[in-house]
Amino acid sequence: MSQEKEKFLIFGNPVEHSKSPQMHNSAFEHLNINSYYDKYLLTDGKKIKDTFNHENAKGANITVPFKEDAFRQADEVVGIANEIEAVNTYIKKDNKVFAYNTDAPGFMKAIKDFGKIKSVLILGAGGTAKAIAMALKEENIEVRILNRSAEKLAFFKTQGFKTYTWGNFQMNHYDLIVNSTSAGLKDEDYPIKKTTLESIFLNAKFVFDCIYGKETPFLKLARLEGLKVKDGEDMLLYQGVLAFELFTDTTLDNQTIEIMRKSLKEESL
Ligand SMILES: NC(=O)c1ccc[n+]([C@@H]2O[C@H](COP(=O)([O-])OP(=O)(O)OC[C@H]3O[C@@H](n4cnc5c(N)ncnc54)[C@H](OP(=O)(O)O)[C@@H]3O)[C@@H](O)[C@H]2O)c1
Repeated sequence: MSQEKEKFLIFGNPVEHSKSPQMHNSAFEHLNINSYYDKYLLTDGKKIKDTFNHENAKGANITVPFKEDAFRQADEVVGIANEIEAVNTYIKKDNKVFAYNTDAPGFMKAIKDFGKIKSVLILGAGGTAKAIAMALKEENIEVRILNRSAEKLAFFKTQGFKTYTWGNFQMNHYDLIVNSTSAGLKDEDYPIKKTTLESIFLNAKFVFDCIYGKETPFLKLARLEGLKVKDGEDMLLYQGVLAFELFTDTTLDNQTIEIMRKSLKEESL
C-alpha cells in the first residue's frame, strides 16, 4: 500500500498570488519526496494553529497578515523569531507546533553578494522591516529606520534602533538602503520623496528592494544613479529554501535550489 502524502500549507489572505507552492512542490518532485504543498486562504487570524492542527499538516508557511498572530499561537518559538515577534514557518514535532522566522536569515543570505556592510537605512517599519532589522542587529550592523508615520516605530525604539519619520529625518552615510515598504508594489510610488531619495543614494553603495517580480521606481532610480542593486527574489527564494530544510530536516544542494529559483519565474498556479 502506498504511504499517504505529507501535507504542507501556506496560510495568508490574500494567498492566491503566492509562489511558495510551486517553489516547494518543484523541490519535492525533484527530490522524490512524497509530499505536497498547497495554498490555504485563512480569514480568521486567531485560528492559525487550530487550522494547522485540524488540517493535519506537517509544516506550513505563514504570510501577510498573519505572521504576528502565528507567533502568539505557537507552542515553541525558535531563535531570532523571539526577538522579531513574527514567524513565517510552522513545523509539527512530537504533537507540538514549533515556529521559526526564515525571512530574517533569508534576507541575510540575499545581501551576501554585496560584501561587507557596516550601516543600513531601512525604509518602512512593517513586519518585514522588523525581521530585517533584527537580523542585521544580530550581526552587529548599525541600523536606522525611516518610516512615513510614527506609529509602527515603537517596536524599533524599544529595541534600541535610531528611528525617523519623514518630518525629522537627518541625512547620513549608509552602505545599504533597503526598501521594505509596499510603495512600488502595485503603484509607481517612491517610498519617500524622490529628491530625499536622490540625496540618500549620493551617500550609499548598495540598494535592496524587498519587492520582486518588477523593477520599482525606487530600484530603477538607484540603478540609474550607478548603485549596485538587487530585488527581493533571492530573499523569497532563501526564506523558502530555509523553510524547506526545516520541513524535511535536510540541507538542499545547489541544483535543487536552482530548480526552486526557476519555479519562481513561472506564473502562479
Ligand atoms: N522578497 C520577499 O521575500 C518579501 C518578504 C516579505 C515582504 N516582502 C515585501 O515587503 C513589503 C513590505 O511588507 P510588510 O509585510 O512589511 O508590510 P506591512 O507590515 O504592511 O508594512 C508596510 C510598510 O510600508 C509603508 N508604506 C506603505 N505604503 C507606503 C507608501 N506609499 N509610501 C511610503 N511608505 C509606505 C508603511 O508605512 P506606514 O507605517 O506609514 O503605514 C509600513 O511601514 C511588501 O512590498 C512585500 O511584498 C517581500
